[in-house]
Amino acid sequence: MRTDERPLDVIVAGEANADLILTEVPPLELEQEKLARDMHLVLGGSSSITAHNLARLGVRVGFVGVIGDDLLGRLVEERLQSAGVDLRYLRKLRGVQTGLTVWHTRGRKRAGVTFPGTIARLRAADVPAGYLAQARHLHVGAYFLLKNLQPEAAKLFQRARRLGLTTSLDCNYDPTERWDSGLLETLRFTDIFFPNEDEARKITGRAEVRAAAEELARVVRIVAIKRGARGVLVASEGRMFHVPAVKTRVVETTGAGDSFNAGFLARFVRGASLEECARAGVRAGARAVTRVGGTAAFEE
Ligand SMILES: Nc1ncnc2c1ncn2[C@@H]1O[C@H](COP(=O)(O)OP(=O)(O)OP(=O)(O)O)[C@@H](O)[C@H]1O
Ligand SMILES: [Mg+2]
Repeated sequence: MRTDERPLDVIVAGEANADLILTEVPPLELEQEKLARDMHLVLGGSSSITAHNLARLGVRVGFVGVIGDDLLGRLVEERLQSAGVDLRYLRKLRGVQTGLTVWHTRGRKRAGVTFPGTIARLRAADVPAGYLAQARHLHVGAYFLLKNLQPEAAKLFQRARRLGLTTSLDCNYDPTERWDSGLLETLRFTDIFFPNEDEARKITGRAEVRAAAEELARVVRIVAIKRGARGVLVASEGRMFHVPAVKTRVVETTGAGDSFNAGFLARFVRGASLEECARAGVRAGARAVTRVGGTAAFEE
């Protein structure tokens, strides 16, 4: 099938979990109890947030991932379904709990703790070649959490490319602080890499963001380094440009990066210029921070 005739634009493969966001939490101390101002139990997971928001931006998207047969799994499934994401390869695993990240916010800062559960369970074999062949682009989020996929990720991307798809990767934070786990091998078959500034520095060992971008752009065709309220730095095939963030009222920033990915990819699969993709990413990131959680601003 020609890529422009394929029924799906994007397949997102990765982790799906819930986020429990407790706002304005004072510092915790053992043997004490504190109160939060608000709580939000919402769709989390870098990959699942990107899939959800892509669908809300009108992109035809399928999600491949693993959830538990439990309450949080049902929450994940319901949120993705309501956005219109194709879930035929969402696998339900019995006996393992769906992952959960608990975020505590205080002002503009936040701290999180993740129970991985099903988060690490995705394998390359969960993404059938026949399904890949129905899409034009493959995106994987939260690479550093996908322990089972890591040894097979480069092969998965290589297979996707052979089937005519372009590929993108968001690594997110590495809780092991090793900053490799086969990432560089996978990047050899990646068209677009979406780290944030801190991650780009730690992966390359370069303190200066432009040097990190240059180094990554030697391996990947397009590097988009997300810089929070500063916007994004894009490096591609010998050129580099910066797009400032859109000024907005910031409520809570969970999922801004995943929403950036969605905005960027929504344009990329329509053949837009790199500048247009980056501007759409920055707009989607700014939209995400106006509500608590990564998807609320895309549900209205
Ligand atoms: N305070 C903000 N004001 C406006 N736009 C923002 C703000 N924070 C983030 N964004 C937009 O969202 C994009 C992605 O955010 P950020 O750099 O925080 O990504 P990230 O660290 O990968 O996020 P995540 O926590 O989702 O992994 C930024 O490039 C920017 O365009
Ligand atoms: Mg991120």
